[in-house]
Amino acid sequence: METTLVLLKPSCVQRQLIGQIVNRFERRGLLIVGMKMMQLDDAILREHYSHLVDRPFFPLLAQSMKASPIVAMAIRGVEAVQVVRGMTGFTNGRRADPGTIRGDYAMSNQQNIVHASDSPENAAIELARFFRPEEIFEYRHALTDFLYSQDEVI
Ligand code: TYD
Repeated sequence: METTLVLLKPSCVQRQLIGQIVNRFERRGLLIVGMKMMQLDDAILREHYSHLVDRPFFPLLAQSMKASPIVAMAIRGVEAVQVVRGMTGFTNGRRADPGTIRGDYAMSNQQNIVHASDSPENAAIELARFFRPEEIFEYRHALTDFLYSQDEVI
C-alpha cells in the first residue's frame, strides 16, 4: 500500500467543495488515513513549492494558498500516488480532462482545487511536512477483500 498527500486548496474550501472531493476519493476505494484543517504560511509554502519559488507567479500562488484554511489529507491505497494524480488531472483546469477533479471543477491554472503528490518519494516528504506521525492512522479498510484481489494487497 502507498500513502499520498492531498491538499484541498482554498479554491476548494471556499467553494464548499470539500465533501464532494472527499467523496470522490472514498468512492474510488481509497482509504483516508489522516485529515486536518490548517492555515498555511509563507514558510511552509516556500518549502512545499521550492521548485517554483523563483517563478513570477509564485507570489500569487502563495497568496492563493493562504487565502483561507486548507484541508490536508493522507490517502492510502495500492499505487495511491499514481491513482490520485490521475484523478487530479492536468495542472491547468482548462486543459484537464473531464472526469478528473480539475477537469470537472476548475477553470484556472492556479485556483485548481487540489494538490496531489507526484511520486512516492515526494509523497513521503510531503506527508512528513503536513502530518506528525501520530496523525496518520494505521487501520484496515473493512472492504479490502472486495476492493482488491488477495494478490494485489501486500
Ligand atoms: P506544479 O507542481 O507544476 O503542478 P501540480 O499542482 O499539477 O503538481 O505547480 C504547483 C502549483 O503551482 C499548481 O497547482 C498551480 C501553481 N501554478 C501556477 O499558478 N501557474 C503555473 O503556471 C504553474 C505551472 C503552476
